[in-house]
Amino acid sequence: MGAQDNKETDPIDSWMEVTLIYNSALKEIGTKLEILNDEFQHVHQYNPIEHIKSRLKTSESIVKKLKKKGYESTIENMVEHVNDIAGIRVICSFTSDIYRVADMLSNQSDIKVLSIKDYIKNPKPSGYKSYHMLVTVPIFLSDRIVDAKVEIQIRTVAMDFWASLEHKIHYKFEGNAPEHIKKELEECAEMVSNLDAKMLSLNEEVHALDPTNHE
Ligand code: GTP
Ligand code: MG
Repeated sequence: MGAQDNKETDPIDSWMEVTLIYNSALKEIGTKLEILNDEFQHVHQYNPIEHIKSRLKTSESIVKKLKKKGYESTIENMVEHVNDIAGIRVICSFTSDIYRVADMLSNQSDIKVLSIKDYIKNPKPSGYKSYHMLVTVPIFLSDRIVDAKVEIQIRTVAMDFWASLEHKIHYKFEGNAPEHIKKELEECAEMVSNLDAKMLSLNEEVHALDPTNHE
C-alpha cells in the first residue's frame, strides 16, 4: 500500500491508521461482493455467494508473521510484507461460482489484482483447496488516496468445512498430526472434490430442465 500521489511524504505512520485503512478496505470489498451477489440474484434468481466472513489480523499475529519472515516490527514492514492484514473469505455453493465471483471482482476498474493462487486446480500437499486473490482497493481519505491490500479466499461450503477441520487438527498437533489422521484428511479432501463435482453437475442438470431459465 502507498499513497498514490506521494509515497514519501504520505506514509501510513501509525497503528491506528493501519486499522482504519484496512478496516475500510474490508468494507469496500465486502460491499462490492454484496452488490454482485444482489445483482446476480436479480438477473439469475440465485446467489453465487453463500456467505462472507472478514477479519482484521491481530497486531500479535502481524508481529509474529514479520518475525517469521525476518523483518523488524515497523508499520512500514507490515504494510509492505504482510499481505493478509485484511482478509475476506467468500463461501460459494458451487465451484463454478468461485470463478464467476473472482472474474466479476477482478474486472472492476478500481481493483488491482496483485496475485492469484489457485489451490483448486493445484491443491496443497495437505489437500487444501481454495482460490486466493491478493488485490488492492483504493481508500479515499480526506486528503489522499491509498491502495490497501486485501487477501480474498474463495471456496465452496465443502472446501470450507474441510479447511476448518484441517486447521483445528493442524493447530492441535502443532503441525505434526499422526500419519493415519493425515491420511484420513487426504481422503476427506478427495471426498470433498467428488461431492463438489457431483453437486455441480446435479445443479446444472436441474437448471437445464427449468422452463423459466432464460440463460
Ligand atoms: P501464509 O501461509 O499466510 O504465511 O501466506 P502464504 O503466502 O504462504 O499464502 P498461502 O496461500 O499459502 O496461504 C494463505 C492462507 O490460506 C493461510 O493463512 C490459511 O488461511 C489458508 N491456508 C493455506 N494453506 C492451508 C492449509 O493447508 N490448510 C488450511 N486449513 N488453510 C490453509
Ligand atoms: Mg502459507
